[in-house]
Amino acid sequence: MANILKVLKGTKDILPQNIDMWHFIEQKADEVFSKYGFKEIRTPIIEVTELFSRGVGDTTDIVNKEMYTFEKSDRSITLRPENTAGVVRSYIENGMSRLSAPVKLWYKGPMFRYERPQAGRQRQFHQVGIEMFGIKQPTADAEVILMAVNYLKSIGLNDLDVEINSLGCPKCREEFKNKLKEVLKPYFNELCEDCQNRYEKNPLRLLDCKVESCKKIFAKPEIQEVINSDFICDECAEHYTELKLYLDKMGVKYTENKLLVRGLDYYNRTVFEIKSNNLGSQNAVAGGGRYDSLVGQLGGEPTPAVGFAMGMERLISLLPEKEPKKLDGYVVSNFPVDAFVLAEELRNQGLNVELDLTNKKFTKQLEKASKVAKYAFILGEDEILKHQVSIKNLEKGNQITVDRHCCVKMLEI
Ligand code: HAM
Repeated sequence: MANILKVLKGTKDILPQNIDMWHFIEQKADEVFSKYGFKEIRTPIIEVTELFSRGVGDTTDIVNKEMYTFEKSDRSITLRPENTAGVVRSYIENGMSRLSAPVKLWYKGPMFRYERPQAGRQRQFHQVGIEMFGIKQPTADAEVILMAVNYLKSIGLNDLDVEINSLGCPKCREEFKNKLKEVLKPYFNELCEDCQNRYEKNPLRLLDCKVESCKKIFAKPEIQEVINSDFICDECAEHYTELKLYLDKMGVKYTENKLLVRGLDYYNRTVFEIKSNNLGSQNAVAGGGRYDSLVGQLGGEPTPAVGFAMGMERLISLLPEKEPKKLDGYVVSNFPVDAFVLAEELRNQGLNVELDLTNKKFTKQLEKASKVAKYAFILGEDEILKHQVSIKNLEKGNQITVDRHCCVKMLEI
C-alpha cells in the first residue's frame, strides 16, 4: 500500500525555513525582468496533451517518456512539463499578436516530468522563465541572454558558463541532418538504443547523448568533421554573428558549443544554456533559444520568438543558505489583554509581531522573544499605567522605555 505520509518520489516540500530563499529569487526575477519591460503571466498547470505533443515535439523524451497524462471527460490532459507551449497557447488565444511587438512575458511555477530523480533532477520542479514574441532580429536573442546573465548576477551567481550554438533553420539543418546520418550509418549498430531510435526521427539529438560508447563514436575524425562543418546558411550565419557581436559589446562571456542541441524540438537558430561546474551531471541552470515556427505551428499568425527557463531548485542549490528572517517584535507581558491589543497596534504600524497566546511566565516569554524576534515590546504594570512600552533590542541587549504611540519610531535603539 502506498505510504500516504511520504512525499512522492521526485517531489519535495518547500518548508517555511527555506521559503525566504524562494521569495528572494522570485522577487529578483520580477525586479530584473521588469527592467527590460517583461510582465508576469500565469497560465494553468494543466493543458490539453496535444499542445505538448505538437509543441514540444513527439520525438522528444519529454513527450515520449516523461509526461504526466490522464483522461478526464474523454479529454487527454497533461501536467505541464515546461511552459513555453502554454505561454504560446495563451499568446494566440488572447490575441496578443495584436499588441505592439515585442510582447515580453515572464513566469514562475511548477513543472512536471516523470524522470529518474537524482541530485538536481526532480519530477516536480520549478522554473522561472521568459518568452519574447515578435522580433526576428538577433537583438532579441542578445537581450534575452544578457537579461538571463544579469538576473543570475543579481541573485549572486557570477561565475556561470554561457554556451551558445546556432541550429540553423529547417532548410539548412535538413542538409546537416542528412550528412550526419550518412557518416553515422556505419556505426548504427554500436549506438545506444535511444540514439538508434533518434537516428531517423531526430538525428541532431544524437549529439546530446551522454552514453560513453556513443560519445566515443562522435569523437571519430570523420564525424567531428561533419559536426564542426559550417552547415548553416548565410542568413542564419549572419544572425549568429550579429548575436555574438552584441554579446561581445555587452561583455557577456560565452563559449560556442557545436554539440549544444537542446532536448525540445521547437528551436531554430540560436540555442543557449547556462551551466555551473558545481552541479554535478545535471549542470544546466538555464536553457533557451529561438523558436520562430512554434506560434504558427500551433495555429497562430507566424511570429518569431525567443525565450529561456531556469530551474529554481538548481539556482537555490548554488546559493549560500540564508538565516530565516526574524520577526520585528514579540510582545512580552503578564497582562494578556493589553499585550494582545499592543501586538495588533504594532502590526497596524507595519511590523511583524507575535505574542504568547498561552499566558506563559514572563521569563519564558522573554526567552521565546530572543529566539524569534529582533525586539521585545515589554508591557509591565508601570508601562500600562503610564501608557508606555519598554523596547529591548534582543541582539544588543539595551532597553529603553518610550511613549506607546511612538514606539515604532524608536526601534533603532
Ligand atoms: P529545459 O532545458 O527543458 O527548457 O529546462 C530549463 C531548465 O529547467 C533546465 O536548464 C533546468 O535548470 C531546469 N530543469 C529541467 N528539468 C528539470 C528537472 N527534472 N528537475 C529540476 N530542474 C529541471 C525548457 O523547459 C524550455 N521551455 C526553455 C525555453 C523557454 N525555451 C524557450 N523558452
